[in-house]
Amino acid sequence: MSDSETRQAMEKSYILHLFTPIPQASPFDVNIAHDAGYNVVVPYTGVGPEAVAELTQDAIFSRGAKGGRRTGIFIGGREVDVALDMMDATRKAMVPPFEVSVFADPGGAFTTAASAIAMIEKHLYFTHNGNLKDKQVLVLGGTGAVGRVATVLAGRLGAKVDLASHTSLDRARHACDVIAQRYGVEANPAFGIGDKLLALVERAEIIVSAARAGVEVLPADAMRHSGALLIAADLNALPPAGIAGVGVMDDGAPLAAALSKKAIGIGALVINNIRYQVGRTLFELMRNASQPCCFDFEDAFAKAREIAKVPH
Ligand SMILES: NC(=O)c1ccc[n+]([C@@H]2O[C@H](COP(=O)([O-])OP(=O)(O)OC[C@H]3O[C@@H](n4cnc5c(N)ncnc54)[C@H](OP(=O)(O)O)[C@@H]3O)[C@@H](O)[C@H]2O)c1
Repeated sequence: MSDSETRQAMEKSYILHLFTPIPQASPFDVNIAHDAGYNVVVPYTGVGPEAVAELTQDAIFSRGAKGGRRTGIFIGGREVDVALDMMDATRKAMVPPFEVSVFADPGGAFTTAASAIAMIEKHLYFTHNGNLKDKQVLVLGGTGAVGRVATVLAGRLGAKVDLASHTSLDRARHACDVIAQRYGVEANPAFGIGDKLLALVERAEIIVSAARAGVEVLPADAMRHSGALLIAADLNALPPAGIAGVGVMDDGAPLAAALSKKAIGIGALVINNIRYQVGRTLFELMRNASQPCCFDFEDAFAKAREIAKVPH
């Protein structure tokens, strides 16, 4: 064995501790972490904000300050606010110089919403010579994790967002209240069923379908009300399409199902491709960082804009 091979063999491996409050870790996250160079990925399930401090301290003190650079923490789960609480608790539990990098992406919501909004920005710029400021955005499935983050990102760029729930106005209102309190973004709560849905579609310039996978939320007859539509982005990759007429591989394809002749579609697999690259790049940055870093949906969005080549 050569000297450099011996040194390599003696180097510590890259270990990722994956904390999630739900019963399963996501294979998607495990795959991306491995692809990004983590040698060992260990899932800890049923771990909520109250349990992360102890686990974090076990992780930071066992390998020394240098080994900490080769140790990372990933936070999964299903809920945006719980994941960010876990991220805060993890950071507070660190004792410099015993620190490790942290990345949160519950249910892929941070990287997915970031990629969708970045792709919308890109197509607004190149096809419609515009941006999200003052655009009327409709987020279907807005009460879910992806819908909430998409609402926050679009709202921060100056869009006027209707956050729709198909279950009740109360559910939409609750999501908007949390978003306003926690992220400082005002969105309009909406009940997205029947005529109320059609009225929302009529005024929407951008539609983001972030409803449950495998559900058609905007059928062809609803799309015929979309007179102001510029872009429809569908996040659902499972048939049937969430938005009638948007193909999973559409990357700015004309949307014939829309009433507006300017409308184009962005499909779920195009967004998923950016999402994979964002996730992998953030893991690689964690792995190679000389100082501990911490990534949430704003970092995912900055990276998605870079990868999607959104002009500034
Ligand atoms: N490409 C990727 O890498 C990637 C990653 C993550 C997620 N996704 C996709 O992004 C979308 C959103 O993900 P998520 O995890 O946030 O979804 P989710 O939690 O499963 O559902 C989001 C919302 O959809 C609404 N909904 C449920 N059933 C519905 C129905 N029959 N009709 C209309 N709305 C319904 C619910 O809100 P209300 O009850 O309040 O209406 C729910 O809060 C999914 O399609 C998912 O597959 C893609």
